[in-house]
Amino acid sequence: MNNLVIPILDARSVIPPTAGDEPPGPFADTRGRRLADLRISVTDRCNFRCVYCMPKTVFGRDYPYLKHGELLSFEEILRIARLFAERGVRKIRLTGGEPLLRRNIERLVEMLATIPGLELTLTTNGSLLRKKAHALREAGLQRVTVSLDALDDQTFRKMNDVDFPVSQVLDGIAAAEEAGFSPVKINMVVKRGTNDHAILPMARHFRGSGRNPGHILRLIEFMDVGASNGWKLDEVMPSAEVVRLISAEMPLEAIGANYPGEVAKRWHYRDGSGEIGVISSVSQAFCSSCTRARLSTEGKLYTCLFAQRGHDLRALLRANKSDGDIEAAIGAIWGARTDRYSEIRTAETATQEKIEMSYIGG
Ligand code: GTP
Ligand code: 5AD
Ligand code: SF4
Ligand code: SF4
Repeated sequence: MNNLVIPILDARSVIPPTAGDEPPGPFADTRGRRLADLRISVTDRCNFRCVYCMPKTVFGRDYPYLKHGELLSFEEILRIARLFAERGVRKIRLTGGEPLLRRNIERLVEMLATIPGLELTLTTNGSLLRKKAHALREAGLQRVTVSLDALDDQTFRKMNDVDFPVSQVLDGIAAAEEAGFSPVKINMVVKRGTNDHAILPMARHFRGSGRNPGHILRLIEFMDVGASNGWKLDEVMPSAEVVRLISAEMPLEAIGANYPGEVAKRWHYRDGSGEIGVISSVSQAFCSSCTRARLSTEGKLYTCLFAQRGHDLRALLRANKSDGDIEAAIGAIWGARTDRYSEIRTAETATQEKIEMSYIGG
C-alpha cells in the first residue's frame, strides 16, 4: 500500500465519528482519543489585533506573515480534507487568522462541500460577513461562529485594538441569519479586568435573539495560547463564576452535550429563552476527550492548540506522495499523540514558545 510504517484502518468500516471515552481502537491516539474534527487555518492574517491573540506589539507592520507560495492551495486543502474525511473526520472548521480575508474563500467552501458526510463550519470575526454570508451559504457552508467580546464600543475597540465598531459585527451576525445560518454561535473571550463587565450585557442581548433555536453565546476562558499575549492566571475568569453571575439575574440550568467531546458545556435559561455555552480550558481541562487536529495555513499538522511543533504535510503533497503515503503519515502522527497541555498547564508552561492562535486557528 505504501512505504511508511503505521497503517491506518479504513474508517468507513467501523469507527463512530466522535468519542473520547470509548475503548481505544486503531484510530485512537496513545490516550484512546479518536480523530474526528479537523480545523483548517486558511490565512495567518487578520484585520483585528485582539489583545489576547495578535497583540500589536508583536504583530506589527513588519511581522513576517506567510507568503502566497507558502500557503496550501485550495486543491491541496481539498486533497488533505478528503483524506481526513475518509479516515473518520466528520467536522471541518475553517479558521484563520480571519478566514474571510482569504481570496475566494467561498470557492474553497464549495470544493469542501463536495465531500460526503462532513459538517462544514467557519469561525470569523464578523467584519466581512455582510459581504460574504450569502455566498458562503450558497457554497454549502453549514454553520458559522462569530467572535465578539463586548457590546459597548469602548470595550470592544479596546479588545480588537483596531477601532472596529460593534455595530458592524452585529450587522454581520444579522447577515448570517438572513442567509439562513442558524444557530449562530457567538464566541466571547473573557479577560478579567478588561471585558468581564460586558458579560451581562452580552447575555441579555443574545438571550432569545436570532431565529429558532436562537443565537448561542459562548464564554471562553482567556488562554495562554502562543507566547505573545502576556497571559496571567489572575486575568482568567473561571466559567463557574461566569455561570453564577449570569444565573443570578437570568436563572440557568445545565444541559447535556450535543455530542461526545463537545468543547462547550451547555446551560439553558430556565424560562426557555435559549442557551449559552462555557468553554473552560483553564479551570476544567477537556483534553481527555479531545478529538481535534489542526492544519496550519502552510500545511503543518498540529495535534494540540498548544503544540510547539507541527508535521509538514505540504512537503508530502508537493513531493507527489500517494494518498496512501499521506494517510499513513497522518495515522502515524495521530497514533503517537500524547497531548494534554491544559491538564498540565503551569505558570512556567504559559511562557514557553508555542504556536500562535492566529497561525493555527481557534
Ligand atoms: P461546535 O461545537 O462545532 O460549535 O464548535 P466548538 O465547540 O469546537 O467551538 P469552537 O470551534 O468555536 O471553539 C470555541 C473556542 O474554544 C475556540 O475558539 C478556542 O478558544 C476553544 N477551543 C476549541 N478547541 C479547543 C481545544 O482543543 N483546546 C483548547 N484548549 N481550546 C479549544
Ligand atoms: N484565549 C481564548 N480564546 C482565544 N481565541 C483566540 N485567542 C484566544 C485566547 N487567548 C479564540 C477567540 C476566537 C477564536 C478564533 O479563537 O474566541 O473566537
Ligand atoms: Fe483576529 Fe480572531 Fe485573533 Fe481576533 S481572535 S486577532 S479576530 S484571529
Ligand atoms: Fe486538545 Fe491540546 Fe486543547 Fe487539550 S490543550 S483540549 S489536547 S488541543
